[in-house]
Amino acid sequence: MIGGVVMDAQKSLVVVGAQWGDEGKGKVIDYLSGEADLVARFQGGDNAGHTVVYGANIFKLHHVPSGILNSGTICLLGNGMVINPLVLIKELEELEKRGIKTTNLRISGKAHLIMAYHQALDDENEKSLGDKKIGTTGRGIGPAYADKVLRRGIRAGDMISPDRFQACLSEVLPLQNRILREIYGHPGYDLIELTDLYRPALERLGPLVTDVALLLSEQLTGGKKVLFEGAQGALLDIDHGTYPYVTSSSTVAAAAASGTGLGPHHLKNVLGVVKAYATRVGEGPFPSEDSSEAGDQLRERGNEYGTTTGRPRRCGWFDAVIARYAARINGLTGLAVTKLDVLSGMELLKMAVSYRCREKDTVNFPLSLEELAQCTPVYETFPGWDEDISRVRSQKDLPAAARQFLNALEEKAGVKIELISVGPDRTQTIIMPNSHLEAWISNKS
Ligand code: GDP
Ligand code: IMO
Ligand code: MG
Repeated sequence: MIGGVVMDAQKSLVVVGAQWGDEGKGKVIDYLSGEADLVARFQGGDNAGHTVVYGANIFKLHHVPSGILNSGTICLLGNGMVINPLVLIKELEELEKRGIKTTNLRISGKAHLIMAYHQALDDENEKSLGDKKIGTTGRGIGPAYADKVLRRGIRAGDMISPDRFQACLSEVLPLQNRILREIYGHPGYDLIELTDLYRPALERLGPLVTDVALLLSEQLTGGKKVLFEGAQGALLDIDHGTYPYVTSSSTVAAAAASGTGLGPHHLKNVLGVVKAYATRVGEGPFPSEDSSEAGDQLRERGNEYGTTTGRPRRCGWFDAVIARYAARINGLTGLAVTKLDVLSGMELLKMAVSYRCREKDTVNFPLSLEELAQCTPVYETFPGWDEDISRVRSQKDLPAAARQFLNALEEKAGVKIELISVGPDRTQTIIMPNSHLEAWISNKS
């Protein structure tokens, strides 16, 4: 105990995407949540699509933390999130239909709501951008965060009664309708119809509204183990990503503090999730993209189609410059490398180890898109392996070529690998001995 604060940093673990999203965060969180008392989302909304697989069961989660499949885990939606109430009630209904208990879910009253007009604005913005479009998920994320910052959002705490919800809506709807009608020629929304549309969601979600920050602080102080589940990835971060081709939230580990209402001293272990190759969905720069047959092979073998939108993901090679950058801006203490099994059978593997920018080599990710446009990745090549590794459960049993590839990845990224995933299922997971992660797992609450 120091100055009245219990030093409980070892009990928390932040899991973030360290590429462009879809790294396999859902799988990693589901695996680790068996060892956690709570799992909290802290940013993003239903643009996230986190897949959890166990046995023949496949769950695609958009708002709900990937810890929900463990019936004892408390799942929290933090203040840094934007929540679509209509999508969330469907997500809960679907989980319940499949026998998953959802009574452990709580929502911060300070999280902002994604409303129907935000989705309409997202669509209209994208259309108006033409070939400069961002390629958003169309979920209304950007407009919802914009309204939060403009101080005209509706928050989850406003769902506690239909009267309060309608009063909030009546204040903001006239301006939203003017924007939709006068700029975009959209018909806009009627106050009463919109309130009625949301009524079932208010009934279902209003009672789940909680002071998440207080609950988390009490639980951490009481020695409970907390996982923070990031969404999207480092290169989609609103500040540090490939702006403007980014999402509208802070996706880095530090956001786990502000996005749940905790002080940063609570965050010590930060696990960055990367695929053993790279993908991106949506527009924007992707230096190690492979538009040749090898890229197509990665897409087909890795089933690289979006969880949220079904769009084919752009595929390419592991980029160590990006991994180093993600490690720095997140303070990564370890890496989880997923989808290593997808590389089995590829004859030759490539890895971007530096960028050649205006005749100089650098291992630092450039500051601007203009600079990035003048850089080309410098690749190292590695021999592939043919063995099916999906049943391997120990790093030493991997083929020598796979170990060589992972050693180079770790060295070039500058972060220790702590978890290796060799398939989508929970069981297809290797934890590195003597890692921070192994210590976190064995640290009982
Ligand atoms: P997230 O958004 O980071 O949670 O990732 P997604 O769920 O959008 O995409 C990752 C996809 O890869 C999902 O379909 C997972 O089931 C799958 N996946 C995760 N880890 C592995 C792995 O190690 N091997 C294979 N083959 N698939 C994996
Ligand atoms: P998970 O959590 C991959 C991308 C979109 C688009 C950009 C902005 O599953 O990793 P938005 O709808 O957020 O305004 O879109 O961000 N994007 C994602 N890409 N995985 C995600 O989430 C993403 N969430 C948003 O494709 O390029
Ligand atoms: Mg995803």
